[in-house]
Amino acid sequence: SRTVTRNTDGVVTVGGIDVVRLAEEFGTPAYILDEDDFRARCRAWHEAFGGQADVFYAGKAFLSRAVVRWLYEEGLNLDVCSGGELATALSAGMPAERIALHGNNKSVAEIERAVEAGVGRIVLDSFQETARVAGIAERLGRRQRVQIRVTVGVEAHTHEFIATAHEDQKFGIALPGGHAAEAVRRVLGHGSLELVGIHSHIGSQIFDMSGFEVAAHRVVALLAQIRDEHGVELPEIDLGGGLGIAYTPDDDPCEPHEIAKSLTEIVTRECAAAGLAVPRLSVEPGRAIVGPTTFTLYEVGTTKPLETLRTYVSVDGGMSDNIRTALYDAEYSVALVSRTSDAEPMLSRVVGKHCESGDIVVRDAFLPADLAPGDLLAVPATGAYCRSMASNYNHALRPPVVAVKDGQARLIVRRETEEDLLRLDVG
Ligand code: LLP
Repeated sequence: SRTVTRNTDGVVTVGGIDVVRLAEEFGTPAYILDEDDFRARCRAWHEAFGGQADVFYAGKAFLSRAVVRWLYEEGLNLDVCSGGELATALSAGMPAERIALHGNNKSVAEIERAVEAGVGRIVLDSFQETARVAGIAERLGRRQRVQIRVTVGVEAHTHEFIATAHEDQKFGIALPGGHAAEAVRRVLGHGSLELVGIHSHIGSQIFDMSGFEVAAHRVVALLAQIRDEHGVELPEIDLGGGLGIAYTPDDDPCEPHEIAKSLTEIVTRECAAAGLAVPRLSVEPGRAIVGPTTFTLYEVGTTKPLETLRTYVSVDGGMSDNIRTALYDAEYSVALVSRTSDAEPMLSRVVGKHCESGDIVVRDAFLPADLAPGDLLAVPATGAYCRSMASNYNHALRPPVVAVKDGQARLIVRRETEEDLLRLDVG
C-alpha cells in the first residue's frame, strides 16, 4: 500500500510503524491494514462518479465495526449478505437506509431484521424470495424498497470473468427466457414492495470492461421493456462489484475514475439509445477497496531446501488465514520485510502449518537464500477475502486485524484465543 517504506535498518514500515514492532506487539500471523489507504480508496470511488452514483462497499470482502465507521465517515454505503454482516453494520451505527441486503437464500429471520431496521434496499434473488419479502413487509406494515438481481445470460466459456452472469449458476433471475420480466410483474403486483431498480453482478477480479458493457446493455433493454409493458421507468441500476486488483506486479487493474467514466458512458449511451432517462447508478466494490490496503505478516518457522526443486518456507499461518491460493489457484507475491538481504534469490514456496500438501500461501517466489527462522515475511494484497474467509482448520486461531495510521497501531479485530474456541464446544 501507499505508505510502505523501508527504514534505515532495512525494516519495512507501514503507516509509520516498523513491522518488527508490529510483530512484537501483536504477534504473527497478523493482517496489517493501512487505514489511510482504505479511506483514500473509499474517497477515490466516491469522487470518481462526481456524486452521480452510490458506492456500496461489499462487506463480504472484509467487515468489522471500524470498517463500518470508516465507510460511514467517507460517505459510502454498505452491501451486506448475511444477518451477521447486517448486525455488524447496525451495531457500528451505519444508518439502515445506507445498507443493501443481498444473498441467494436469505432466511426469514434475516429478511425480518432487515425490513424492521429499514434497510435501503433488499436485492431479490428468486420468485420465492419475492413472495417471502413481500409477505414479511406486509406483516410488518412496511413498504420495502427492492431491486431485482438479474443474470444477463452470457455463456461462461466466452469470458471466464463473467462467471456469475452465465445461466448455469445459482445467483439471480435469468434475463433470457423472460424470467426477469416475470419477476418484475410479480414485484409490481405486491403493494408492500417498491421496485426501485435492476441489479447485475457479473463476477469478480475483472480487468476488462467488456463484461460490464454486455450487462449494462441487457439491463437497460430490460428497463425499456418495463417502461413499455408497465409504463414505469425504474430509477436505479446497480452494476455490482468485481473490479480487479494487482496481486502481483503483472496485474494491471483500472483506477476507480476510469471505471466510473466507462460505466457512466456505457449506461448513458444505452439509455439514450433506448429513449430512457439515465437512472441513478450504483456499484459494489469490495476487493478494490480493501484488498490492497492490507498485508499479512508471517514469521518463518522452518526452511527446507529440496535439491534441484525449490525451498519450502513454512510460516506460522497458511490456508486458515488465506484460503485463496488453495481454492482459486490465486497468485500472491511475498517479501522479506524484517531486514534486507544480499543473498542469492532462491526459488521458494511459502507454505503454512496445516496438515495438507495444498496448504500453500505463495506458490512460486524468489526469497533470499539466507532466509532463516524468525525472519518476517509480508504477503501483500490480503485485505479482501482472507480474514473474511478465514477458518479454524486444525483449530487454528484466526489472526487479528491491526489498523495502522500516523505511527499508531490499533487492533480492530483481536486474535482468537483458545478460550474462544473452547467456548463453542459445549459437549
Ligand atoms: N456485489 C455482489 C452481489 C457480489 O456477489 C460481490 C462478490 C461483490 C459485490 C463484490 O465483488 P468484488 O468487488 O469484491 O470483486 N471469494 C472470492 C470472491 C467472491 C466474490 C463474491 N461476490 C475471492 O476470494 O476471490
